[in-house]
Amino acid sequence: MSESKEIILNELRKNRECYLSGDRLSQGLNISRAAVWKHIRELRQKGYSIDAIPRQGYRLIREPVQLDAKELEGSGIYYYQSLDSTNTTARKLAEEGVPNYSIVVAEQQIQGRGRRGREWFSPKSSGLWFSIILRPYELSPSQAAPVTLVTSAIMANIFNNYYELPVKIKWPNDLLLRGKKVGGILTELKGELDQVEYLIVGVGLNVNQQLEDFPKNLRKIATSLYLEDNQYYNRTDLLLKIRDSMVRGFNLFFTEGFTPFYLPWKEHNSTLGRVVTLSWQGGILQGKALHITLDGSLQIQDNRGEIHTINYGELI
Ligand code: BTN
Repeated sequence: MSESKEIILNELRKNRECYLSGDRLSQGLNISRAAVWKHIRELRQKGYSIDAIPRQGYRLIREPVQLDAKELEGSGIYYYQSLDSTNTTARKLAEEGVPNYSIVVAEQQIQGRGRRGREWFSPKSSGLWFSIILRPYELSPSQAAPVTLVTSAIMANIFNNYYELPVKIKWPNDLLLRGKKVGGILTELKGELDQVEYLIVGVGLNVNQQLEDFPKNLRKIATSLYLEDNQYYNRTDLLLKIRDSMVRGFNLFFTEGFTPFYLPWKEHNSTLGRVVTLSWQGGILQGKALHITLDGSLQIQDNRGEIHTINYGELI
């Protein structure tokens, strides 16, 4: 860490009860206020939660808490400080032959990937950024297709049942909390037409971020468990709980398909019954989301009454 950043951090640590003005910090260090702001932004990227109030200054709210490497040891969880993307590393490990249900987790992703080539904001030690490797026995790609919906049903069940948090599913891969995005799922597959070799299911979950930890363009549309529940979560416990639910859930999916997840998915979804706009086949489809089929496709009725059965695309 640069010397100026270290000094700013120590000043913030000594003054946890009050706000330190940008002026005071910049004068003390003989650097510009813009430089102070840049250091604050970089500290946030390292997982420090720093509140900022205009004309009052900065206050250190929380230092980053790392995942507990000892707790994760021997659990089939591969733990990294920083990766480009856990999906990319999971793919490499899958090629090397690691077993079914191995998990790759990183404190931070430098090039976290969202759907459709978007970036997934993955700052240090504040969320859970992980990928699970699935090796389904005798499953074709079309049978594997609902795996993203199954993952969202597993995740929504965990938060609704264990934490009393009303996490909702927006088809096909968004996890919402009070209308804002708290998580997303990115599934990748390697296989032949008739046989899946492995699936990589990547999950990004915003856990302990404060509002200021999100870039400005995300603040209105993204949220974290902390922001909605007003408490910090132990990310290690949460990851282990998710892993256990996933192992149980995917075992069931591999033997019985989407059917056992159909009702939980419907119970927690926020899509059915709404008028939706879908980006699909390079164009736009608008209509009412009527049903989800047993293979996880969404049925949309357009304004001419025609029903479209959609198995990929994105609601905008
Ligand atoms: C989306 O909503 O667009 C999907 C976001 C998926 C993000 C996760 S974070 C862990 C894993 N690694 C990645 O690069 N992406 C997924």
